[in-house]
Amino acid sequence: MNLGVGVLCSGEGTNLQAILDADRRGELLPAQVRLVLSNVPGVPALKRAAAAGVPALVVDHRAYGLDRAAFEDQLVLLLRRHEVSIVALAGFMRLLGPAFLSAFPDRVLNVHPALLPAFPGMHAPRQALSYGVRVTGCTVHLVDEGCDTGPIVLQAAVPVHENDDDATLGARIRAEEHRLLPLCLRLCAQGRIERQGRRVVIRP
Ligand code: GAR
Repeated sequence: MNLGVGVLCSGEGTNLQAILDADRRGELLPAQVRLVLSNVPGVPALKRAAAAGVPALVVDHRAYGLDRAAFEDQLVLLLRRHEVSIVALAGFMRLLGPAFLSAFPDRVLNVHPALLPAFPGMHAPRQALSYGVRVTGCTVHLVDEGCDTGPIVLQAAVPVHENDDDATLGARIRAEEHRLLPLCLRLCAQGRIERQGRRVVIRP
């Protein structure tokens, strides 16, 4: 049986769309998307999942107040119920702690719109423009308890142009994210991603 992928989102869901498109083309095999979860009700990501015929549910973090573990337990329960073993954070704007991460050890991937460790956190393309870098990019990494701090799986570089603004640079970065995240999911499904301390080895 194929491995189950769960995708966590909070918003637009263009990375989710890239994953769904790759799934439709069989490019995630031996894995397939089984569940989409959003912590924000009514976001476009949920409609993208519905259009692809993938179950999509909302777990609103606000309903759990400060009890982050209870929020994470609910995410884990739903993912397990849908037989998910690999998780992609695709624009999921919450930090995850031990209650979640211990359920999927080294099997939670996040995509971030910068060449980490540069520009973690929010508004990474804006941070890159303000700093004045000539090259930025995107990173897929294994998730740990920090903010965009986990071991790096793959990165792609993106040039910064003189006339870029947030939107133009963000779009150029997202195009690379859409390529990189499905690729990393496939590598993970194939069992080719192995963490060795801070480093990730990708087996041939
Ligand atoms: C993506 O660019 C993703 O890298 C970023 O949010 C965007 C979501 O877009 N994530 C972070 O900044 C996490 N630190 P999407 O909803 O269209 O996929």
